[in-house]
Amino acid sequence: MRLPDAVRIVEVGPRDGLQNEAGHVSTQAKVELIDGLANAGLGYIEAGSFVAPAWVPQMADTAAVWAAMRQAPGVTYAALVPNLRGLENALACGVREVAVFASASEGFSQHNINCSIAQSLARFEPVLARALSEGVRVRGYVSCVMGCPYDGKVTPEQVRPVALALSEMGCYEVSLGDTLGVGTATQTRRLIDVVGHAVPRAQLAGHYHNTYGQALANVYASLLEGVSVFDSALGGLGGCPYAKGASGNLATEDLVYLLQGLGIETGVALDTLIALSWAFNRVLGRTPDAKVSLARPAPGVGP
Ligand code: HMG
Ligand code: MG
Repeated sequence: MRLPDAVRIVEVGPRDGLQNEAGHVSTQAKVELIDGLANAGLGYIEAGSFVAPAWVPQMADTAAVWAAMRQAPGVTYAALVPNLRGLENALACGVREVAVFASASEGFSQHNINCSIAQSLARFEPVLARALSEGVRVRGYVSCVMGCPYDGKVTPEQVRPVALALSEMGCYEVSLGDTLGVGTATQTRRLIDVVGHAVPRAQLAGHYHNTYGQALANVYASLLEGVSVFDSALGGLGGCPYAKGASGNLATEDLVYLLQGLGIETGVALDTLIALSWAFNRVLGRTPDAKVSLARPAPGVGP
């Protein structure tokens, strides 16, 4: 199979990356992160979520972030919303692209959004209808596509109907989330094969957490299956507060390095990204969880 000429990277650091952060991250630091990501060439940035603050306190200042951040021309800025209330809050902040999220496993659905998979899909119907009527584009996530912290094994056959439902509701793209980071390349290829019979591969994205160090292998497996959109987080930030034990996302700098090596265009300036990763991790008081940044500390901002 021919690899794609270009890949679209969806930077989820400011949302997926920071939602699980133990310490407080200031609104100003989030704004500088988002602006820095756009400056490094990321064309799509998920800049927070409008979820219940009692559930995810780290995202409680998303409206303030949106009010302060610069919106660079040509960059898509998006926010995650769990329900109609979240969508209305997002619209009030001028958000023009949102993401909704369902789970492939019942256990995670209950723990993450306090309802069954069927209830969550029913809840998203009016969210999609309202967003689309406002001309707001909606991306969908399916979580726990290769394993669930509560239910264990998850099969591609469980993922397919959830992905299809999101697509039929009007999500222009469905991102397949290995929330636990347990999947392997063989599993990934089978997942895309099975789900790809319901949702065209051109409308699928890969969202691989790196708990077992398999995220890059899973990206490569996905490329071979014709997927060309991948989610990642600067410095490997993140995890989900309702997926205990799961580590951060695939690091954006590691993803960019892989794609550059394959001759695939991303539009991202790797050195600028590495410098940003070191600078932002300094704010967090640690080093990046990214092989590329550790191998190539930027002058003046390294360890
Ligand atoms: P609930 O408790 O069942 O809902 O939570 P509720 O309607 O009873 O509301 C409870 C309280 O929250 C009420 O306030 C509501 O007004 C308020 P109170 O009356 O108690 O003062 N509320 C809200 N406030 C602000 N914004 C809102 C909102 N909605 C209700 N939008 C709910 C249900 C879905 C709201 C909750 O479970 C929730 O917010 N969950 C979000 C969890 C989350 O953000 N998880 C992480 C993202 S998913 C992820 O990381 C996976 C992904 O990355 C892919 C992957 O890795 O696989 C996407
Ligand atoms: Mg995630």
